[in-house]
Amino acid sequence: MSHIYLEKPAIYSLLPKDLSSKTIYCLGSGSGQECDYIMNLGVKKVIGSDNSANLLEYAQLQYPLIEFELNDMNNLKLESNSNNIVFSSLAFHYIDNWNKLLKSVHQSLKRDGELIISTHHPIKWGAAKKRTKHKNQFLLGYQKSKTDNTQYKIWGNYLGIKKK
Ligand SMILES: C[S@@+](CC[C@H](N)C(=O)[O-])C[C@H]1O[C@@H](n2cnc3c(N)ncnc32)[C@H](O)[C@@H]1O
Repeated sequence: MSHIYLEKPAIYSLLPKDLSSKTIYCLGSGSGQECDYIMNLGVKKVIGSDNSANLLEYAQLQYPLIEFELNDMNNLKLESNSNNIVFSSLAFHYIDNWNKLLKSVHQSLKRDGELIISTHHPIKWGAAKKRTKHKNQFLLGYQKSKTDNTQYKIWGNYLGIKKK
């Protein structure tokens, strides 16, 4: 529920008021609701994308007037200089290599373009994992104290500072 009452109002409030000249590309748009919301704000063009063919099929059925396409944020294909805004709600935390993703987003943005994203908190859900023999181990996380449930122990290098 927090995404409905907190995250969505917060991320939508970051959109410019006048979208009538803007092209917005949505990354990880899932079932397409956010694209529909943005279209109803009077945007010039909105394109939804996801790496799930099933979700895209569902989104296309729900919102036949919106363009949706398969695009994997791990290997993003975006036309250069084509978008005023790249928008992504609660999807970046699935991606390990943000450098590659951000480069691709950057080259797709027009002059004065904007990237608007929300993501899970890295302590709650970080993409960075270490593959051990039997499982993937998250490199960042937290554990509640067994004796005091207001206390948490954080593991991992939260600030990403390299040790000398
Ligand atoms: C938590 S859902 C958010 C969906 C939508 N943005 C929303 O807020 O309702 C995350 C979405 O990211 C998509 N996703 C995960 N990994 C992805 C990837 N590598 N490339 C593109 N989309 C991805 C999932 O299929 C899913 O639709």
